[in-house]
Amino acid sequence: MALRIAALILKNELTPNVTQQLRQMRTSSVARSQFLKHSPNTALDKSILQRYRNLETPPNRVQATYLWIDGTGENIRLKDRVLDKVPSSIEDLPDWQYDGSSTYQAHGENSDTTLKPRAIYRDPFKPGQKDIIVMCDTYNADGKATPSNKRADFQAAVQKIADEEPWFGIEQEYTLLDVNGRPFGWPNNGFPAPQGPYYCAVGADRVYARDLVEAHAIACLYAGIDFAGTNAEVMPAQWEYQVGPSNGLKASDDLWVSRYILQRIAEEYGVVVTFDPKPMEGQWNGAGAHTNFSTKAMRAEGGIKVIENAIEKLSKKHERHIKAYDPKEGKDNERRLVGRLETSSIDKFSWGVANRAVSVRIPRGVATAGKGYFEDRRPSSNCDPYAVCNALVRTCILNE
Ligand SMILES: *[C@@H]1O[C@H](CO)[C@@H](O)[C@H](O)[C@H]1NC(C)=O
Repeated sequence: MALRIAALILKNELTPNVTQQLRQMRTSSVARSQFLKHSPNTALDKSILQRYRNLETPPNRVQATYLWIDGTGENIRLKDRVLDKVPSSIEDLPDWQYDGSSTYQAHGENSDTTLKPRAIYRDPFKPGQKDIIVMCDTYNADGKATPSNKRADFQAAVQKIADEEPWFGIEQEYTLLDVNGRPFGWPNNGFPAPQGPYYCAVGADRVYARDLVEAHAIACLYAGIDFAGTNAEVMPAQWEYQVGPSNGLKASDDLWVSRYILQRIAEEYGVVVTFDPKPMEGQWNGAGAHTNFSTKAMRAEGGIKVIENAIEKLSKKHERHIKAYDPKEGKDNERRLVGRLETSSIDKFSWGVANRAVSVRIPRGVATAGKGYFEDRRPSSNCDPYAVCNALVRTCILNE
């Protein structure tokens, strides 16, 4: 059967019926090699690396992967260096330079850009070793934060309000694509059946690439991320995971490192991750980064008053938040926040209890308990969480 279908594909004679059969047998290797536009990565024999993994390296040598956000404000870059001692804290890690002109962050004549280490994680790609991932932020030659470094300003805000103990929980939605740009598991010609059966589903006809999702969860936990859970989303090939709740900068650092880990694992599988907030036009859900937010006062008895007060402030700063909630200052979210498909309209601030078609939602349990947190549903899946959390803190706590 696989060979017959393969032959039809080669002759470009696919009928809808065959496409149907095809979908059901995607996992057979012949079908796979004929129908996925393969990533070159999947042709490599992954077991060879294992022969080198267990070689003994000098005890004082540590490999560190420095991560940073490039000039797009949404893509991760990384490079590795070998340290000559095991760091006991972030202060032990040296700054490092890179060529900012190759990452949309500097011009050629003055392109040395500086990485400052900010957070350390265990490296799940070198398991059992002392190797680490280092989340960095970036500085121009004049010592100023680069425009895409939103962390520096967030850190300044967090330092002013440490007593408020802000907590953030962020849901990251994303879509898996084939290297040809089609959502992973979707028929090459045509579409899957309409949305309905896929959310939190099980079964080969509904859910694609669960292995990847599970590998990601384990790797994030190993790394030290406050990883909270995962589920299949409403559109097939779309998934979600959550980080937090954690205080201050941790949730945002965690989210960036978890995105890196996700893309790294997907790279091994030859699958592409997109954080685009609306990867498919039409009646397909977009992808967001719903953000739960609370302060000590909101979590205390009678906190609902503080929550309502914060929502009142947010209602007056809608534009500022829309600008901070995607890397194109609202342009990406324009495609997603259409007032349908579980979203609110981008032009108007709205809120409600247990309502998903609003900008800000108070969960039912919070309304009942009279304390807790609220959920800002506006951030786009490709948002910079530093910018999102910063805007929340500055509007709701610092009254800016
Ligand atoms: C945010 O709160 C909702 C409940 O209102 C919960 O389902 C979700 O998991 C929370 N997300 C995070 C990231 O904490």
